[in-house]
Amino acid sequence: MSGSNILFVLSGSIACYKACDAISRLVQCGHRVRTVATEAAQRFVGVATLEGLTGEPVATDLFAAGGALDHLGLMRWADLTIVCPATAHTLNRAAAGLGDDLAGALLLAHDWKKPLLFAPAMNPAMWSHPATVASVERLRGWGARFVAVGAGRTACGDVGEGRLAEPAEIVAVIEAALARPVRRLRVLVTGGGTTEPIDGVRVLANTSTGATSALLADHFARRGHDVTLLRAHSAVRAQPGVRDVTFGTFAELDTALTGLLAGEDFAVVLHAAAVSDFAVEAIVVDGVAHPPGPAKLGSASAPTLRLRPNPKLLDTLRTRSRHAGLQVVAFKLTRSATVAETEAAVATLFARGTVDFVVHNDLANREAGSGAFPADIWPAGGERVVHCADRPALAVALEKLLAAGPSAATV
Ligand SMILES: Cc1cc2nc3c(=O)[nH]c(=O)nc-3n(C[C@H](O)[C@H](O)[C@H](O)COP(=O)(O)O)c2cc1C
Repeated sequence: MSGSNILFVLSGSIACYKACDAISRLVQCGHRVRTVATEAAQRFVGVATLEGLTGEPVATDLFAAGGALDHLGLMRWADLTIVCPATAHTLNRAAAGLGDDLAGALLLAHDWKKPLLFAPAMNPAMWSHPATVASVERLRGWGARFVAVGAGRTACGDVGEGRLAEPAEIVAVIEAALARPVRRLRVLVTGGGTTEPIDGVRVLANTSTGATSALLADHFARRGHDVTLLRAHSAVRAQPGVRDVTFGTFAELDTALTGLLAGEDFAVVLHAAAVSDFAVEAIVVDGVAHPPGPAKLGSASAPTLRLRPNPKLLDTLRTRSRHAGLQVVAFKLTRSATVAETEAAVATLFARGTVDFVVHNDLANREAGSGAFPADIWPAGGERVVHCADRPALAVALEKLLAAGPSAATV
C-alpha cells in the first residue's frame, strides 16, 4: 500500500545503516516517512542523512523547544510505527513502559489500533538474554509484531541469532502490516509433522512437508493479518512477515500451543500439523522393555515397539485459548476415500464440538503434473461450503470465511 504515513524509530545499533536503506526503499515506494532517533542512534547515523532520505526533520528531543507535544502528534500522524533497529535496551525499555526520552514516550502513547513493529538488531547473547526474551513476549502479548531476526555473524564477530533483517524483508513486513483487511485477525497456523523419539537417534515420523501451512500463513500475512507459523523443524518456512516458531516432538508442540494460546490473543487456529496419533511407550528387545531414551539401541535383535495414543490436541485448543471466540480449523487427509468414508471422517472431527471448519483433501485427487491439491471446506453441522481447486484457492476461501467472524458459514 503506497502513500502511508510511517513513523520510523531508530535506536543505537550499527545496523542503523541498514535501516537507512529500508527508509530509502519506503520513500521510493511512495510512503511518507518521519524518523525519530534516540541519542545512541545519532552516534551511528547523522541527522542529515535521515533528513536527506525522508525530506522531513528528525525528531530527537522530548523537550525540544516548540515540540513538547510532538510525541502525541507523531503517534496520531502515523499509520504504522516501526522501531528499527530495535536495540536490547529499547526493547526492554518499551516492555517496561518507560518514557524517559522521545522514543520511549512515543511507544507509551502508542495507539494499539495501529500496527507497531519491532525489527531487533543485537548481539546473540543480548537476543537470548532472559530480559530480552521476556520483553519480546510481553510486547507480542500487547499486540506488537516482530520482524524475524537473521542468523549468522554479527558486527561484533559473534555467531548466532540477532542480526537485523535485510532491508527488503523489513519493507515487505511493513507493506503486509499496512494492508487493511476488513477485520484483522491474529492467526496461529500449525504445520509439518511431529517426530516421536524411539531412541537417541531414531524417530517415528510422517511425510508431511508443511507446504500447505506455509502457503496459508503467507496468504494471511499478505492480507494484513498477524500470523504465527508453528512448524516442524524440517517443515517449509513461511515468508519473513510471518513469525516462525518450531517444534520437534508431540510434547514440544503441545507445550508451544499452551504457551501461545494462553499468552496471546489468537482469534484463529489453522491446525494443519500432522500430529502423530501415537508415541513410543517402550522398545522391547529380547523380552525386556526400554523407555525411549538418549542411548542408541543395538541392532543385533529386531525390537518391538510398544505404542501409546497421544491425546487429541484439537479437542483442547479452545480450552487453552484466552480468546473467547476462537475459531478452529481442522485438516483431514484421506487416501482414496468414498463419499461415505469422507463424511464419516469429517463428522468424527466435528463430533466433540471443538472445531468450526474442517478442510478435507484426498491424496488420490492430487494432480501429478501441477501438484494442485483440491480441498473442500466443511462447516460445523453443515454441508460442504466450498470446493477449492488448489491451495491458493483454499487460502482465499478460508480467509474470507474466517474474517467474516465466528458465526459465518458461507462464502
Ligand atoms: C559500536 C556499538 C554497537 C552497538 N550495537 C548494538 C546493537 O546492535 N544492538 C544493541 O542492542 N545494542 C548495541 N549497542 C549498545 C547500545 O548502543 C546501547 O545499549 C545504547 O544505550 C542503546 O540506547 P537506545 O536503545 O536508547 O538507542 C552498541 C554499542 C556500540 C558502542
